Amino acid sequence: MTTSLIALVTGANQGLGRALAAGLARRLTAQDVVYLTGRDSARVAEAVEGLSGAQVRGELFDVADPEAASRFAERLRDRHGGVDIVFGNAVMRVGPEDDPREIIGPYTQVNNFGTTRLLRAFAPLVRDGGRLIVVASSLGTLHHLAPVLHQRFDGLSTLDQVDKQVAAWRDAVADGSARSGAWPGFVNIPSKIAQVAAVRALASHRRAADLDRGTLLAAVCPGMINTPTSAKWWDVSGAPSPAEAAVALLDLVFEPVQPEHYGQLVRFGQVVPWK
Ligand SMILES: NC(=O)c1ccc[n+]([C@@H]2O[C@H](COP(=O)([O-])OP(=O)(O)OC[C@H]3O[C@@H](n4cnc5c(N)ncnc54)[C@H](OP(=O)(O)O)[C@@H]3O)[C@@H](O)[C@H]2O)c1
Repeated sequence: MTTSLIALVTGANQGLGRALAAGLARRLTAQDVVYLTGRDSARVAEAVEGLSGAQVRGELFDVADPEAASRFAERLRDRHGGVDIVFGNAVMRVGPEDDPREIIGPYTQVNNFGTTRLLRAFAPLVRDGGRLIVVASSLGTLHHLAPVLHQRFDGLSTLDQVDKQVAAWRDAVADGSARSGAWPGFVNIPSKIAQVAAVRALASHRRAADLDRGTLLAAVCPGMINTPTSAKWWDVSGAPSPAEAAVALLDLVFEPVQPEHYGQLVRFGQVVPWK
């Protein structure tokens, strides 16, 4: 067991994830440990270079691997007894040229099932005063979904229920039936809604106990960022850099928990209404 603070960021070898890892390292102390994780060991090793402050350890964590989250959680439990800060940030990059029917399997595996596995594995490990944060988007609200589909993601109370809805949507995209229904064509929208629904489902059980111990579980929107992922869809040349976008997310870690943020989607310190 250690008294150091332990932080973990997924999808951290580039973009916002690396900026989060760098910002955590800068704002923590030399006794603390930041796990900068990704799916490729060479890219992870390169990303660790030049980061300073806390100890930054690059490790493999492929969120698409169904066993990876529980394995990594076990490792952190053995090494440190728990974890203090977790950012679920990994995203599979897709572009307008990709056929949703082709990519929806791996896309949901990384962005959605990867998120629910992370929440299941790490929620029991987060220590008092900790943070468990899923990087979503302001697209992750029911406002962006046809009303006829709202009940799919509204009021869910378990991560299994969220997974079931994601699987149904994935299958509808894969067999083409989503196109003739009310589903939006932009797969990012249901995916981000399901990430926020997952946070809401877990939060519905943990709110009172977590707030008593100063722990925050939330989804966040970093705003538009200039990364290759967003550049596939929009002109982001004038958008904030990953380091700039990371500041508001890091503030949720280093400032006291605001109870109204708990279980919600938070953007620049404000709750984005779910519906
Ligand atoms: N960019 C924006 O404008 C924007 C806006 C709103 C929300 N967001 C959200 O912010 C987060 C970061 O976005 P970004 O623009 O920084 O993305 P990015 O630059 O594409 O970075 C994505 C990261 O995820 C990693 N990744 C992909 N598949 C993985 C897997 N199976 N296991 C582990 N890591 C994996 C990538 O690793 P590789 O290098 O190996 O591919 C990369 O490090 C995402 O959740 C995104 O949806 C972004």
